Amino acid sequence: MNIAAELLVVSFKVICSFVLAGAKWLVKPREKRVAGQVCVVTGAGSGLGRLFATEFARRRATLVLWDINREANEETAELVRDIYRETEPRRGSGDGVEDVPFYQPRVYTYVCDVSKRESVYSTAEKVRQEVGNVTFLINNAGVVSGHHLLECPDELIERTMMVNCHAHFWTTKAFLPKMLDLNHGHIVTVASSLGLFTTAGVEDYCASKFGAIGFHESLSHELKAANKDGIKMTLVCPFLVDTGMFQGCKIRKEIAPFFPPLKPEYCVEQAMRAILTNQPMVCTPRAMYVVNFMKTILPFDAIVCMYRFLGADKCMYPFLAHRKESTNNNESKI
Ligand SMILES: *[C@@H]1O[C@H](CO)[C@@H](O)[C@H](O)[C@H]1NC(C)=O
Repeated sequence: MNIAAELLVVSFKVICSFVLAGAKWLVKPREKRVAGQVCVVTGAGSGLGRLFATEFARRRATLVLWDINREANEETAELVRDIYRETEPRRGSGDGVEDVPFYQPRVYTYVCDVSKRESVYSTAEKVRQEVGNVTFLINNAGVVSGHHLLECPDELIERTMMVNCHAHFWTTKAFLPKMLDLNHGHIVTVASSLGLFTTAGVEDYCASKFGAIGFHESLSHELKAANKDGIKMTLVCPFLVDTGMFQGCKIRKEIAPFFPPLKPEYCVEQAMRAILTNQPMVCTPRAMYVVNFMKTILPFDAIVCMYRFLGADKCMYPFLAHRKESTNNNESKI
């Protein structure tokens, strides 16, 4: 085809993708079935990870829970088992479950420090042997140092980078080969709106989340380049979620009521919808798409003065102070 004709086709496809994306906003496509699929969730012991686990359990996926904290992880497993019991399909109830082959999902727990690549690789090997082929990989584990850069111990900065960014490389290297074999799978990156735009005092967190998003996007392109259309990718970018991770964070008080911290349940509900309809990216709340767009077109000084007006320039400072206080209290106790 000559280049002019090709250009015409590309323009048409670009317009189509806009129309399609708009249509998906109005008419939600059917959610895919996950019953019987194996789903690995990192950081499953708390926060969003725990909620992702329960949402997948409700849809009767087999769950593989990873966390560094054994007890917390077991608590999540207990919740998952409860949900399996509650959602057991009843045979002969006339609701059509007879048509579906009966599948009893199971939950597996592993203690794993995702910042250590040997720990990731050896745990992944166990999963392959004890559970089977992994379809869903939810890269969710995340930490924040919560110190001003110059007061932050180097180890904590490294840890944030390892957990929030490097770990995605190791888990993906562990589970992607099988997905490629089967041309079937789904990789989810739980990033943050702080992986799209930033504020003061969370350098480690922002750097790691920008890194995770760069990784995610490049890998998405690599799968497209290899025509592996059976493997889906979803990027999840929630604004501040009310999980206690950024406790104390505050914007200007007149504006704060319009941007309440997100309920984690809401955030995961939106993320699940995106995942199960193979949506490439989801920002919650939707206003964050606008903020992200503004950030890319406005001059830096314009952003600075808007941040000052909104109180977003130092919104993390109360959180950092809160962290400092609780660290000091812990130290004095010891
Ligand atoms: C797991 O993957 C292999 C191919 O690598 C395939 O032969 C096997 O059937 C798969 N197992 C399940 C349970 O899908």
